[in-house]
Amino acid sequence: MTNAEKSSWTEAYEGGSLEAERQGFRQLAQAMLDIQEKNRESAGVSHAMRTLHSKILVGVTNAELRMDSDLQSQFHVGHFIPGAVLRASIRFSNASGVPKRDDAADMRGIAIKLTLPGGKAHDLLMTNYPVSHARNAKQFVQFATIAMGDPATLKERLVAHFGVDEAMRMITTVMKGMRPSPGLQAEAFWSRGALLWGSFPVRLMLRPCLYTSVEQSEARPATADGLREGFANVLHERPIAYRLAIQSYVDEEHTPIEDAAVEWLESVAPPVEVGTLVIPSQNILGEEGLRDMAKVDEMAFNPWNAPALFRPLGNINRARGEVYGASAKAWGASSNA
Ligand code: HEM
Repeated sequence: MTNAEKSSWTEAYEGGSLEAERQGFRQLAQAMLDIQEKNRESAGVSHAMRTLHSKILVGVTNAELRMDSDLQSQFHVGHFIPGAVLRASIRFSNASGVPKRDDAADMRGIAIKLTLPGGKAHDLLMTNYPVSHARNAKQFVQFATIAMGDPATLKERLVAHFGVDEAMRMITTVMKGMRPSPGLQAEAFWSRGALLWGSFPVRLMLRPCLYTSVEQSEARPATADGLREGFANVLHERPIAYRLAIQSYVDEEHTPIEDAAVEWLESVAPPVEVGTLVIPSQNILGEEGLRDMAKVDEMAFNPWNAPALFRPLGNINRARGEVYGASAKAWGASSNA
């Protein structure tokens, strides 16, 4: 990527200004709080849960992100320097707002909280499908609101609201993303929205470092908590690792900032591996492991917990600051950073 191309990107605020856009985000945050309350009622619990990704699958506090010693110079930004080792807490989740059995079709999330030198946090959030069904935050929240009704007439309601083309495009993406998981250690994860990496936009992905395919299939007991138990089985034997890779912005057509429903294809924006996320071998279901999991479940993760050099970009990401904060306040997160 040339310097001219890197500097060609722009952000476009809905309503014409950051303040006008923020007003809209407050309404979206309220709509998500309404969903959170309905989920609480339907789960029959007394306390609000995360509006999305309510069920923790795995939580660890002793992971590490090890940056490659030969990290390309264009990616040396802030704390991401060659050979750096950053301590990380990790929360894996099912995406649904109401806790489900792990063998049900769903998307899965990974939330990583890096501890930076000096003690501040840098959160990285990803899900196991490369692209968002929603182009922007309003579409995301309207889709989520409409999806709360009767599943039998969902398609008709989405078509009535979005029109046939947009509704079918979104349904297709959601259906592809919602599936049973072969085991979290075998999943790849994508940031789906862009973020700044110093002076240019990127998207992030994590790719699993797999050993044998046998381990994959053995690692998913068909039980209500099968993904947690499967991960625990593998972690009992060996560490689990993922390679972190960066896709760089190319141009507005192929790698748009504001339209999160456009996939940044690997053929257009080839991922460059920059580091390894390592979860050490341990007993996550023992007393200490369960204590750590409870601790992680109380942490609030938010893409806006990030140094300014890594500011989230695009409408869908700008909304998340407001929406996640409101959700976390309602479920009583113990910390925001
Ligand atoms: C497009 C990229 C997105 C990705 C990769 C993503 C990923 C995630 C992940 C991994 C979590 C779980 C965090 C945790 O473990 O605590 C989460 C939670 C959540 N997401 Fe997203 N998400 C995206 C977009 C959105 C959008 C557009 C909205 C709404 C405007 C949204 C609303 C939420 C909410 C309300 C939570 C719960 C936050 C909390 O209560 O702490 N997400 N998301």
